[in-house]
Amino acid sequence: MEIKIVKDYQAVSELAASEIESLMNSKEEVVLGLATGSTPVGLYKELVKMYQQEKLDFSKTTTVNLDEYVGLKGSHPQSYRYFMNDLLFNHINIDLKNTHLPDGASENPQQAAVDYEEELSKLETIDLQILGIGTNGHIAFNEPDDRLSLSTHVVNLLPSTIEDNARFFESIDEVPKTAITMGVGSIMKAQRIIVLVSGKSKAPIVAQLMDDYVSTQLPASLLKFHPRVLLIIDEDAASLL
Ligand code: F6R
Repeated sequence: MEIKIVKDYQAVSELAASEIESLMNSKEEVVLGLATGSTPVGLYKELVKMYQQEKLDFSKTTTVNLDEYVGLKGSHPQSYRYFMNDLLFNHINIDLKNTHLPDGASENPQQAAVDYEEELSKLETIDLQILGIGTNGHIAFNEPDDRLSLSTHVVNLLPSTIEDNARFFESIDEVPKTAITMGVGSIMKAQRIIVLVSGKSKAPIVAQLMDDYVSTQLPASLLKFHPRVLLIIDEDAASLL
């Protein structure tokens, strides 16, 4: 894994945006893998700014998102569909038909997971996958476990994830307990992966990630097997290195 330590959250966002800009300038039809949560918000602000400055054109871009809560419709403000539309898609010239997220509102989430994996398999590739890391080491919603699924699946969120994400909801009881997530296999198929990490709360997991081991109990450690991973870490998240 290549590691770049930068000053702060803004620098993480700017560096990630410039990596996406270089990719989009080098290839006409790009497939971007996107993440939600707090970490990529600054990146999406930068991409919107670049679009407004006519530096980026998303008309031929396809996006796939990592995950979606089970039980939330796209109109729910805490759904990841809403998040993506609100922070990025509504502000750029992307065709919403080319933006993919698992269908969290499906009455049959297991089938929705299978359907999403099929949607992914129809894409030629994911050129660049953006990831965040959970404080427990999860990537997408692949939670620490004895074994991990390769393809898109329904997952029970761990109490630590529910607690971490309660800040987005009125109360912890409203946080969905399950989600549909891309599996580690689907993520690892991306040509390139950029992991964004910011803030002191991530410092312990970043420190753990730097040892010489891989473990399904630290799903982000599996990224060590991927040949093209860039970790962009701010000084707070790197403070225990
Ligand atoms: C989001 C996702 C999660 C987050 C992770 C970090 O689509 O899949 O893995 O990247 O939980 O979340 P934040 O950025 O809120 O700390």
